[in-house]
Order: sequence, then structure tokens, then C-alpha cells
Amino acid sequence: MLKFPADFIWGSATSSHQIEGAALEDGRAWSIWDAHAHTPGRTKNNENADIACDHYHRYKEDVKLMADMGLKAYRFSISWSRIQPDGQGKVNVKGIEFYSNLIDELLKYGITPWVTLYHWDLPLALHTEKDGWLNPEIANWFAAYAGICFEHFGDRVKHWITLNEPWVVSILGYSQGVFAPGRKSKNEPYQVAHQLLRAHGKAVQLYRTKYQPTQAGQIGITNNCDWREPLTDSTVDTEAAQRSLEFFLGWFADPIYFGDYPQVMKDRVGDRLPKFTEEDTAMIKGSSDFFGLNHYTGLYAADVDPNADVKNEVYGNGGIFEDQYVQLTADPSWKLTTMNWAILPWGCRKLIEWISNRYDNPPLYITENGCALDDQLINGNVNDTVRQEYIESYLAACHKAIENGVNLKGYFVWSFMDNFEWALGYSKRFGIHYVNYDTLERTPKKSALWFAEVIKNGGFTFSQKGIEI
Ligand code: GAL
Repeated sequence: MLKFPADFIWGSATSSHQIEGAALEDGRAWSIWDAHAHTPGRTKNNENADIACDHYHRYKEDVKLMADMGLKAYRFSISWSRIQPDGQGKVNVKGIEFYSNLIDELLKYGITPWVTLYHWDLPLALHTEKDGWLNPEIANWFAAYAGICFEHFGDRVKHWITLNEPWVVSILGYSQGVFAPGRKSKNEPYQVAHQLLRAHGKAVQLYRTKYQPTQAGQIGITNNCDWREPLTDSTVDTEAAQRSLEFFLGWFADPIYFGDYPQVMKDRVGDRLPKFTEEDTAMIKGSSDFFGLNHYTGLYAADVDPNADVKNEVYGNGGIFEDQYVQLTADPSWKLTTMNWAILPWGCRKLIEWISNRYDNPPLYITENGCALDDQLINGNVNDTVRQEYIESYLAACHKAIENGVNLKGYFVWSFMDNFEWALGYSKRFGIHYVNYDTLERTPKKSALWFAEVIKNGGFTFSQKGIEI
């Protein structure tokens, strides 16, 4: 049996925009994602999250399902425009009430809330009136909003995550334009990333000076990264894989752990990469009490001659190709999920070992991991064997990493339930609970029942012979 440490955090995650619905109820205003999804052609079948899983009205039922499976921790996010409809100023009491009730409901069952302050749903007014993440002032707006959350929820919330996946905000939102706010630029992603880091730093500074001394919680950031395996053992491909990881994860983690962007980014992006002031560096360096990681998949990385006519067509995975010149490919033998993401548990192990080595073995939490499948509800059951195997093999890889010295302290399955998968609408099911979108009824999938056993036993017997971890 693969046993995990007794204090290992077993959790599951969601985000506000993907599950809540009640888009205009009780004083909430639109976020950039409401606007994006309501713009024809931006999401699959023009679907939006006006109702989503209707979690806003069904949170008690959802928390009960969490309790039923013995979940120790639940990671959710707060919708900024539910708390501050305009993103600044006036506070919406009904919004405070909703999250306060949700937190109480979780605590009633002994489930620890892990709260993300920003999971991509910027109040629309901040974007249309103030240029959103491009405006350096946003660090102040974000810190003010964070302060409201610390003030109202910090007596009960002891685990804060400032931002979810700033890489996605920057690249999918401002380079590829497939996510809100749908912009396509070669410069803006670097400017936006810079402001995201500053906003994170400012919120952490506020928490540490004003709230942490009495509330005694932890605060950090969650970044996402896929693994990059060198295509060959040549020096150039090994360097390409390393470069790709630094453009992906080092972009955000290096400033937090070392105080500046990776040298390879400074060399290649040049003047398009903003510079931190001394004040910024002081605020950002050391600003995470733990390393939050969202991880799903990986690809081969190979060096590309800048003069060769090669384009990188891998959806959402490459960053800005011309700044990196790394060709990403998948091995045809790799099994894929319905996102076309390869199932690579060994990539998860290698990535967390890479993080551990580079950043001096920080306490690490996998704040998202999971997969999308074509789940079918048949006679009240969803036999999502592939998801169970996916989670099992990734956890086995995590276990091996822990044995190798990685300070991994928790794991959150993405997602607690099927939900609005951004530009892909409701077409991708990531949940360990099935959601019938006609009736909004929830059903635990086989993976949820299996995960409940894992939590109960603090581990599992790894049944998949011959799977590389
Ligand atoms: C993450 C994101 C989640 C979820 C997941 C699956 O990048 O944080 O919101 O959508 O991917 O695609």
C-alpha cells in the first residue's frame, strides 16, 4: 500500500465562475468572463455560466456531498464582482453573506476552506473603464479587494491563494485571445504578468502586515505548468526543455523565490519584459508561504532553429513561440484525455522534483490535477475508470516524489463536479461528481467513491502494473 503522511491534505477544487451561476443575482455584476461568454463565437455553442452548476443556490447540497466522501479540504474561489460589483469601492453585503455561509457550512463538517481570491473573473468595469490587468493601479484595487476578504473571512479561512494561474491569464487572455478578455498581443502578456505579480505581492504584503499576525493563516499563489521532456538527450533539446519550463513556470515563480525573471527570459524578451523596481522586488520576493501547483500533462520539447519555417500549433501550451523557439510534440503512444492532454504521471513526478530542486524544496500543494472524459450516466452510475486510474497513477507518482524528498503536503482533485470549462463550455467533464445540466442533479462518479476510500485509508494499493511513474 502507498501510504501518505498522516497530515497530508486530501482535497478537491472548483472556481466561482465555473460553478456558481446566479450571474446577476443579489447585486453581483458581470466579470470579463460573463462578457466574453456572451460574445458570439467565443465559447463552444455560445455557452455561458449564467446558471452553471447553480452552486450559489445549492452550496449546502454540494458541501454535504463533500462531507459524504470525507474530503478534508475544499478549494474554491471568490467572485470579485460579487464582493465589489465595480471592482472598487462599494461592498456588496449579499456577496459577503454567501461566502460567509459557505465557509460556515464547510467548517460544520470539518472541511478546511482553501480560498482563491482570483480565478480569472475580473469585474468587467475594471476592464472596460480602467484597462484591467494592463493598469499598474490594479495592484491597489486587488489588494483592497483582498483586504475585504481577509477582514470578513480571515477569522475562519487560514489558507489563501491570491491568484490562480497567472500564466493562463497572460497567455490565453492576452496572447492567444481564446480566454477573456480575448486579446492577441505579443507585448501585453508580459505587461499583464508583471501587474499580476505586483498585485499578488501587494495582497500578500497587506495580509502579512495587517492580518497574519492575529489570523495566523498561510498565503500563497498557484501557478500552472506542464512537464517538458527533452525530445532527445542532445544539449540543445535539454536546454529547450529547460527554457520552456522557465518561460512557463519560472516566469512567475522566479520573481517570487529569487526576486526577478529568469535570465533566459530577459535575454530573449529584452525590452518587452518589464523590470521590477526595488520596491516591487522587496514586495514580491518571498511572498508565498507555499508553492501551489496546477498540473495536468506534458509534452516533448525540442530546440528550433529561428530561421527554419516551423510553427508551434499546440493549443494553449506554448506561450509566445517566437520568444522561445521550442517545438512541442506528443508521443503517438501516449494516452489522451478528451482535452487531448496526454496522461503522463512520470511528468508530474519530474515536474515537482524540478520545482523542489530549483526553489529549495518549498512546501508544495498540488492545487489542481484531474482529467476530462466523455462520462456517461447509466442507471445512476458513472464508471469513469480512466479518471480513477489517472488520479491513482498521478498520486503514485507523487508518492514516489515524496520518497525522493519532495515536500508535497497536499493534493486537490480538479474538479469536485463537472462545470463550465471556459471556452469549451459544458463539453468537457472534469468532475468527480457528474452534473446533469438539465436537472442540475449531482451524482458521485466511481472516481469520487474511490477517492473517498483513499482519503479514509490515507493511501491506496497501486494496481496499475507496468505504468511508468
Ligand atoms: C485549469 C483551471 C481550471 C480548469 C482546469 C481544466 O487551468 O485553473 O479552472 O478549467 O484548468 O482545464
